[in-house]
Amino acid sequence: MVWEYYNDKNVFITGGTGFIGTALLYRLLTESSPQHVYVLSRGGYSKAKAKWSNMLPAHLAKVLYDSKCMTILDGELGDTATMSLSDDKLQMLKRTVHIVIHAAASIELKNSLRELSYSIIAPTLCLTQYALKFANLERFVFVSTAYVNSHLWKTTKSSDVAVEERVYPLGGATEDPYSSALEIWKEVQKLGTSDEYDAHDFPWAYAYAKHLAERLALEKASQKNALDKVLIIRPSVVGPADKFPYPGFTTSYSTPSTACAAAYALHPGRKIHLSTRCENPDQDATIDEVPVDVVADRMLVHIALGSSGCVHAVSGEKGRLRIEDWWHAFKNERRLPWSVKPVWTSEDWHSKNLHHVARNFKIIGTSFAFADDKTDAIAKQLGTEREQFHLYADRSKPYHHSLIHRRHHIHNAARQLAKKSRLPRCSVSLLCRKGKHPTQLSEKVV
Ligand SMILES: NC(=O)c1ccc[n+]([C@@H]2O[C@H](COP(=O)([O-])OP(=O)(O)OC[C@H]3O[C@@H](n4cnc5c(N)ncnc54)[C@H](OP(=O)(O)O)[C@@H]3O)[C@@H](O)[C@H]2O)c1
Repeated sequence: MVWEYYNDKNVFITGGTGFIGTALLYRLLTESSPQHVYVLSRGGYSKAKAKWSNMLPAHLAKVLYDSKCMTILDGELGDTATMSLSDDKLQMLKRTVHIVIHAAASIELKNSLRELSYSIIAPTLCLTQYALKFANLERFVFVSTAYVNSHLWKTTKSSDVAVEERVYPLGGATEDPYSSALEIWKEVQKLGTSDEYDAHDFPWAYAYAKHLAERLALEKASQKNALDKVLIIRPSVVGPADKFPYPGFTTSYSTPSTACAAAYALHPGRKIHLSTRCENPDQDATIDEVPVDVVADRMLVHIALGSSGCVHAVSGEKGRLRIEDWWHAFKNERRLPWSVKPVWTSEDWHSKNLHHVARNFKIIGTSFAFADDKTDAIAKQLGTEREQFHLYADRSKPYHHSLIHRRHHIHNAARQLAKKSRLPRCSVSLLCRKGKHPTQLSEKVV
């Protein structure tokens, strides 16, 4: 039922050369027979081939770049709907595409709201407007983040914040969450900020940019009476695959826990200052890391079964990790013989006194219980077909297994970090373990 839905469909994907996009394309092309898949890539075919060949073992990369039913379109998202594509190509997409999946974005957490206006908000608005004109459009999917609602940490008393699969208005419970979005977007373009952004404490401008982009997409759809076509997928912290394209599939820069493991390995001291308001942070603070194949499969199943609105792609209450287990797992990746203990303080999550890993990844020390009722409901609906999909994180193995798979990437992230911190190059080999590059994994292993 699900894979059959994609047969004979034309799909247009942005971000297909990224971490999530690669897992998604792999599932789509190996399990169904779409009529055609168009992938927008900066640098066209040669760049996409190089990226997949660097991310995947050769025989898996080939599945993507040799696919007869896929065309790479050399283009770039920006603040117009043209995506640097020729008029012929734009007209072709408009005539033929049934499903648009918008997974491209910068995931740089340090960017300012002004920068994110160009890399997240404007491209999402332009692409939504354009896609809603497609003659055969069935589904428009925007990949957002579960942390669009991370400002709730500061407005909720509980140290385990429940987050539902819906838009939380920023102007008060009675505000129509979408209709104000266009006015607010004008304010952000003019001033580089907005009253509602200033009134809420988001950990990063990135989270607010996604919040506003979601509302703009929904407002545009509502104006066209097409809200039933719009699906917003909200992944939490994306981590290595449990199963597809191969167990442990990951990249060096798109898995936040990998960067944290690298920072832990390089830390020379015995303590790291982190912030929390949990009473027993080691046990009560949590990290919701979700395998990338769970994100891809949830997205593909919800698209096929016609879900609309916001859907969490998360590990949820059942699968999230206690901070203690997450932190302790990093020990194995470090060569220094002593471990690093978190020292918890009640300082603000923006405080300069925190370790740089906490200043960047501000949700360490928090706990969010992301609802995933919509996936529970759809899993029931699938009946026996459910076995074909990886909808829930596999937590049967201890978390440090997931780090062994990404040893190469942790080492790579440590090299980048050492460069930024002006540490000598040799320090990385001395402090951090090294693993095999994915392209060196044998066909048997994967
Ligand atoms: N990774 C996470 O933990 C996480 C968590 C929650 C949500 N998300 C969201 O999931 C989506 C995908 O993330 P990811 O982890 O797959 O990121 P990623 O690995 O960094 O990939 C980003 C993709 O977006 C493309 N891209 C970026 N800017 C572009 C532009 N201006 N024009 C065209 N393409 C552009 C990149 O293309 P190039 O190949 O040309 O660079 C790449 O294909 C993003 O929207 C992100 O916000 C990610």
